[in-house]
Amino acid sequence: MMDTLFPHLVEGSGSVTERIRAERGDLRSRLRGHGALLFRGFDIGDADGLEAAVRALAGEPLTYTEQSTPREVIKGNVYTSTEYPAHAEIPLHTEMSYQATWPRTLFFHCVTPPETQGATPLAPTRAVHEAIDPRVRDEFDRRGWMLVRNYGEDIGLRWRHAFGTDDRSEVERYCAGAAIEPTWLGDEQLRTRAIRSAVHTHPETGDPVWFNHIVIFHSSSLPDTVRDTLIELYGAEGLPHNTFYGDGEPIPDEVVEHVRSAYRSASTRFSYEPDDLLVIDNMLVAHGREPFTGKRRIAVAMAEPSS
Ligand SMILES: [Fe+2]
Repeated sequence: MMDTLFPHLVEGSGSVTERIRAERGDLRSRLRGHGALLFRGFDIGDADGLEAAVRALAGEPLTYTEQSTPREVIKGNVYTSTEYPAHAEIPLHTEMSYQATWPRTLFFHCVTPPETQGATPLAPTRAVHEAIDPRVRDEFDRRGWMLVRNYGEDIGLRWRHAFGTDDRSEVERYCAGAAIEPTWLGDEQLRTRAIRSAVHTHPETGDPVWFNHIVIFHSSSLPDTVRDTLIELYGAEGLPHNTFYGDGEPIPDEVVEHVRSAYRSASTRFSYEPDDLLVIDNMLVAHGREPFTGKRRIAVAMAEPSS
């Protein structure tokens, strides 16, 4: 069922880029006001068409850095949405909220709709923040949260691939500039730690927003058997990614489950139609992916790095 208010629907026909050029200021303020826009009925075209729409609304499309999931480049800075098994759900999250900088605006172009399910559920991060018990929020305010990632041959991505270099000193330079602490555990084994804030203030609206990867990267988001096996083999700090309080102490499963239910209570969904273009303010709205059947293909682009 379509929620008529969210995402905010912009209907029309013809070139989406021309429409954006003609109404850029108004569309940008509607994006900040509603958090998400759904362009429906327009021609988007191929990856070049999507890039043109991105440039018209939000500037140069960004390269995908500090990769956490497999994606394919369609062309230039247009990517496939995460290549993750169709039967699995991708929990609600905000893009790259584990990094020191992140894209402010995300674009999802429905090239081929799924047969069943496969929506991009959306949850306003202000509502998620409000739905979380103030005691839980205070705990994160006080302690922050930490992402621990592992890159290796057997587990996680390879650091050479994730950082796009074979030069360790280049990885170290990148980490120094991105508030990440790297620890080399071997030639191919790298562990990184980053301490971030759980709540951010939206730069335009001034709202407190729940903007982090605490739930999606927490070990309790893995299937139970996978989690148990990985922890037995590698330890809680040895998983491809896991989240902790900023002081390195574990976040109890029930705290993560409480936050997960806050996302769920704030979430809404719509069914994709061919050539839908969903644009979201990454700090205002979290997104996920339902499991699906069929040949779902969603092209993704990102723009406007946070400062
Ligand atoms: Fe995502």
